[in-house]
Amino acid sequence: MTRILTILGARPQFIKAAALSRAFQKTQGIEETIVHTGQHFDANMSDIFFEELHLPRPKYAFNINGGTHGQMTGRMLEAIDDVLVSEKPEAVLVYGDTNSTLAGALSASKQQIPVIHIEAGLRSSNKAMPEEINRILTDHVSSLLFCPTSTAVGNLKNEGIEAGIHHVGDVMYDATLYAIEHIKLHDTYKQKFSFLPQKFIFMTIHRAESTQTQEIFSKLMSFAQEFSSEHNVEIIFPVHPRIKKLIASCASRSNKKFIFVDPLSYFETQYCLSKASHILTDSGGLQKEAYFHRVPCVTLRNETEWIETIEYGWNCLWGDAKYCSRKNILEYGDGQCAEKIARIIKEEL
Ligand code: UD1
Repeated sequence: MTRILTILGARPQFIKAAALSRAFQKTQGIEETIVHTGQHFDANMSDIFFEELHLPRPKYAFNINGGTHGQMTGRMLEAIDDVLVSEKPEAVLVYGDTNSTLAGALSASKQQIPVIHIEAGLRSSNKAMPEEINRILTDHVSSLLFCPTSTAVGNLKNEGIEAGIHHVGDVMYDATLYAIEHIKLHDTYKQKFSFLPQKFIFMTIHRAESTQTQEIFSKLMSFAQEFSSEHNVEIIFPVHPRIKKLIASCASRSNKKFIFVDPLSYFETQYCLSKASHILTDSGGLQKEAYFHRVPCVTLRNETEWIETIEYGWNCLWGDAKYCSRKNILEYGDGQCAEKIARIIKEEL
């Protein structure tokens, strides 16, 4: 039996982990134990994903959030260290680029436990982003690196990482296909969102660099306001806890174009994305989900890790606002990414 310890903490990780946990449950010989750092802790940022996606409950749940990035990561490192000493797993599995990812990867590598990184090799080339530092460091201590794209594979090779790399596609695509099937079978989403206009934009902002100052945040809001006027559509905007205060002091908040709502569940989000005319976001996950639903996206950043979405005409940066000609993106796989990962882990660990 291969015993894997999965470290989770933030919203997108619950979604990816649900897809992979389903695959682990189908694969004989893999046993997964989950640790939740507590980075995201509100019910609508955490619990709802466990319930809705039937993600196995964590055996260890910490309540580590807030403070500086260093403080948060340090406290996680200490807590995870103790778990590793008592659990002695064969490998530690981490997702993406959050502080929880880095803490899990560092703790495991210091105890000589192999690290498995899902979503390895992504780069924005912007080291001012905390996520970029988390990704680079995690990749450099990982033994198995599962890349969603060939660009990600190239990034790792450019940094001298050669062993353990697999291009398997994007586990988020598996998750979206699962959600689309679920939504088809349940009328609840149509009823819940009957208040939405026929045509609307879906928008999110949460990143540190978008929310550092009121000025930057207000610029993004003004851009969205103009974009919605140009297209004559309203904007549904689920509010991440990070931006509550910024919205309260932003001049655009009273503009009738914005419909602010609390953070949505995964299935609710996928329902809204499937009906949206456009998506405006600074989230990495949403840029791809826009493509999965074949909805054009504008990324509210100056660079993106998901350059295929730009090259294939489904996404553009807010500074450019011009799309390349549209083609399908084959890079992200066939919706069987989680099964592939489970198989490779079993064979290679
Ligand atoms: C984090 C990740 C980011 C990921 C995002 C997904 C890092 C450095 N960033 O950003 O890569 O894309 O999660 O959402 O790890 N808060 C609440 N309730 C919650 C969660 C957060 O009030 O349930 C508050 C926190 O206390 C903090 C702020 O929101 O004040 C930001 O949370 P934080 O975990 O620091 O980062 P995110 O912006 O969510």
